[in-house]
Amino acid sequence: MRSFAFLLPALAAASPLAQTTPDGWADGPDPNEIQITSASFSGNGCPQGTVSTSISPDKTVITFGFDGFQTYIGPGYNPTDKTKNCQLHLNLKYPGGFQFSVVDSTYHGYAQLDPGVTGTFYSTYYFSQSASDTTTTQTSISGGGIWAGGQVYTKADTIPTASYIYSPCGANGILNINNRIALTSTNSSAVGELTDDDATVAFTQQIHLSWKTCKK
Ligand SMILES: *[C@@H]1O[C@H](CO)[C@@H](O)[C@H](O)[C@H]1NC(C)=O
Repeated sequence: MRSFAFLLPALAAASPLAQTTPDGWADGPDPNEIQITSASFSGNGCPQGTVSTSISPDKTVITFGFDGFQTYIGPGYNPTDKTKNCQLHLNLKYPGGFQFSVVDSTYHGYAQLDPGVTGTFYSTYYFSQSASDTTTTQTSISGGGIWAGGQVYTKADTIPTASYIYSPCGANGILNINNRIALTSTNSSAVGELTDDDATVAFTQQIHLSWKTCKK
């Protein structure tokens, strides 16, 4: 995995920690009270009928399996095959109030890249309630070497979402994760394939820095 460049951009400037209330910060509820109540997906990388979804019994971990999230570049391939996206929409139920959460996501796929071909996997995380606050991770693989023969790869994200859930106490938040894989090439004869075969999003490792309880 040494070939991966993993960039985690700086967080949005706003931090819940900067906000104070007369009540101060309370000890949080059990982080496992965060639950995925439902999920959906959209995008040309995940047409209906190509995705399997499973949610753990405690509703804190969701895994998507993708059969059509594949990109190709090179002679004979359609230029539109160079990039695909699949956006995941997770309906979350929170115990209430603002929170500062960490989302763990793991992606597996396959890359077979000739020299000159670069594959990049972008994941952009945002809550519907504040769609302009986004965090994007980017993993790139340069073709050649071990990738010329094809390898399975893993992309592991730990996202401090630092997000405000503006919904009223006890309401729901929607976390969106737009995953995009893309191939570029400096050699029109070179061939590349990059897939995303699965995505797992977990709320089990919450490092909850602070919670604010709602006033009744
Ligand atoms: C371009 O890619 C083809 C196929 O991998 C290879 O045979 C050729 O040598 C490459 N050309 C250059 C200039 O790297």
